[in-house]
Amino acid sequence: MTDQVGFLNFAEAREIAKRRLPRGIFEYIDRGAEDERALAGNRAAFDRIKIKPYALRSGSNRSTTISLFGHEYCAPLVVTPTAFAGLVYFNGEVELAKAAAEFGIPFTAATEAITSIAAVARATSVPIWFQLYLWDKEEISFELMDKAWSSGVRTIVVTVDTPVLPNREFNVRNGFDVPLRFALRNVFDVAMHPRWALGVFGRYVVTEGVPTFANYPDQYRKNLLRRDRGDPLDFMPNLSWDHMGRIRDRWKGTMVIKGLLRQEDALEAKRVGADGIVVSNHGGRNLDSAIAPIDVLRGIVDCVGPAMTVLADSSVQRGSDVFKLLASGAKAVLLGRSMLYGTAAGGKAGAIAMMRILKEELARTMDMSGCQTIADVNQDMIAAS
Ligand code: GLV
Repeated sequence: MTDQVGFLNFAEAREIAKRRLPRGIFEYIDRGAEDERALAGNRAAFDRIKIKPYALRSGSNRSTTISLFGHEYCAPLVVTPTAFAGLVYFNGEVELAKAAAEFGIPFTAATEAITSIAAVARATSVPIWFQLYLWDKEEISFELMDKAWSSGVRTIVVTVDTPVLPNREFNVRNGFDVPLRFALRNVFDVAMHPRWALGVFGRYVVTEGVPTFANYPDQYRKNLLRRDRGDPLDFMPNLSWDHMGRIRDRWKGTMVIKGLLRQEDALEAKRVGADGIVVSNHGGRNLDSAIAPIDVLRGIVDCVGPAMTVLADSSVQRGSDVFKLLASGAKAVLLGRSMLYGTAAGGKAGAIAMMRILKEELARTMDMSGCQTIADVNQDMIAAS
């Protein structure tokens, strides 16, 4: 496996991505907000939790399969929505979506993607999920939801933890923001990464032009080099539970609300009729003093009860991290940075390799702990140290 993709784990895939990608793009993905306390806190929270393994209980029937919203998947893993999959590799969103389909886990396309939801859905053999950032012109968001539905999407993930733009100072220092500003240091940065300049950005430019945010209607679409073409289309200010209620009324499929950390909010999500929630601090990328999801997960799962599907994420690097989130009550775990690094290292093959590594690490952790099925990975298996 290493011969083909050159990495054995998250850290090695990250190193490859770091070498290949312009610093502005790598740091956009890798880093957190402000002083990166939430990012460090996510890691520390995982490390505080220890596994209490059973001896003499492993067996040949061990399985990592799960059923999620009525579908079977080979592992409790979901590719989280990320805006930059298309910038780490040429056609990266399609590569990653195909990887997920072939591997057997869900892929979530992002609102802020450079390949349209229709094009990603067309390229994959199984239904994908779609992430929605609600725009300030609600009707346009509803049109996008309808487009997702007619592309075969049946699960929508509404991100609610970004009421204002987060403070990511490294982006400003790198002269990297969306739209990309080509300050002198960006030109140098890109020139130092010719493989990316030619193989990713240059390839877009010669095939379809400078990448744009393809899900935006024409008159609002920005490309990655220039400012908005016309009127801006911004994220909804004062996003509220009323908006969630209206999305619920409009969306006939599965609705998941992403970015909750409080029991009260989880209960509100249940009240508006969401089918699932993602307990998340956005990978430590938004509110820098946010609590780690794993520290609130059990309380949230117990308070909403079994009718609500609770997923979780934030800074997963190993199968043992997945195990700990499952043992804390998550039905499945969303993966962001690991998927982007796998894709950066080798497109579809790299993404599949990263998925396989995390699945195998989870399976080994289960074998070592005497867990035969995902249902065995319960709160009895862990303790905080
Ligand atoms: C967007 O959701 C980001 O975390 O950059």
